[in-house]
Amino acid sequence: MMVENVVGRFALPLGIGANFLIDGRDYLIPMAVEEPSVVAGASSAALLARAGGGFTTGSTEPVMIAQIQLLDVADASQAKRAILASQEKILACANTSPSLSQLGGGPQGIEVRCLPDTETGPMLIVHLIIDCRDAMGANAANTAAEAAAPLIEQISGGRAGLRILSNLSDRRRAWAEVEIPAGAFDSDDYSGRRVIRGIAEANAFAVADPYRAATHNKGIFNGVDAVLLATGNDWRAVEAGAHAWAARDGQYRALTDWHVRGCGDFETLYGRLELPLAVGTVGGATRSHASAQIALKILGLEVDGEDRLSTENGGSAGDAGAIADRRGARRLGEVVAAVGLAQNLAALRALATTGIQKGHMRLHARQVAVAAGAVGEAVERIAGQLIAEGSIRVARAKELLLK
Ligand code: MEV
Repeated sequence: MMVENVVGRFALPLGIGANFLIDGRDYLIPMAVEEPSVVAGASSAALLARAGGGFTTGSTEPVMIAQIQLLDVADASQAKRAILASQEKILACANTSPSLSQLGGGPQGIEVRCLPDTETGPMLIVHLIIDCRDAMGANAANTAAEAAAPLIEQISGGRAGLRILSNLSDRRRAWAEVEIPAGAFDSDDYSGRRVIRGIAEANAFAVADPYRAATHNKGIFNGVDAVLLATGNDWRAVEAGAHAWAARDGQYRALTDWHVRGCGDFETLYGRLELPLAVGTVGGATRSHASAQIALKILGLEVDGEDRLSTENGGSAGDAGAIADRRGARRLGEVVAAVGLAQNLAALRALATTGIQKGHMRLHARQVAVAAGAVGEAVERIAGQLIAEGSIRVARAKELLLK
């Protein structure tokens, strides 16, 4: 059983994002989401991205931060020096998982930060930097923080308060990039050059304005969360980290960068998304939820047999072959970044042209037609009629069905 006081299950649709070409490899993307248009949007943007050779991605090592809050420290500078001088001893004490360290993971370093002026007085904050390999790492980080706290108290002469991971996992980031020729955006109603300019302007709006940035980033998370949910990952943790990252310079901004490159017939749209992505392919719900296992299988990232904290995390940034060959958590993060970028592209493209309601209305009309009892080819016909009449109601759909 995964949680307490269970009275039932709450199922979501599981869709497949299509057309994804990531680092030269094709992917089918499992997406668990209740919102219409998300899977379709990601798939159509991924098709556009193919015109530019698909997405390229990368990621940092899978390191998390565990925080230990130290209070009542008499001399902060002296305590900081003493803690840093005892780094090896503290790391050994925090090294609670032999299997993780066997695979090259485990505690790697220490940082000490001083918060001289909080509401309740000064605090010293110790960060344990922990390589979690293919685990999301919440358990590894929390266990390490709790194990090392008594020694840190002893060394600093302080009192340990909180011992918990930070969800601002800014050392554990993934990114995706894409560059698409303007011509790929040409349609009967809009020239591609006009569309990509509109997308760059939309991005600039979200970089400058937190009100727009929140909506812009929400659109990114339509895709990101759908994959996280499908693969049994903690999407609240990723959201919290990414939103904090989006405000890292003091103002909340877009997580993406989109701009026009080149000129004339050679214009392209360049896009990039980078965000903290603490995800796992072992442990937690990734392992205990049967559908999450299937989702990882669909992605080609499944873990066979017993929990495995893979050593297959290698591949330097820029080495597309090695990156595409990765399995495990880093690869999942990179794929998720590509989906987030695609989702954002789909939204900005619609917003910069016809607006999003047109597409939404068609889906809504289809749902209404189905709710009225339409099946097969009648669904499209009745949805089309409802849209033409400008009245999307089940009662009218029923009348049309009778006719
Ligand atoms: C709706 O779920 C997401 C959008 O609002 C995102 C955006 O505005 O960029 C369409």
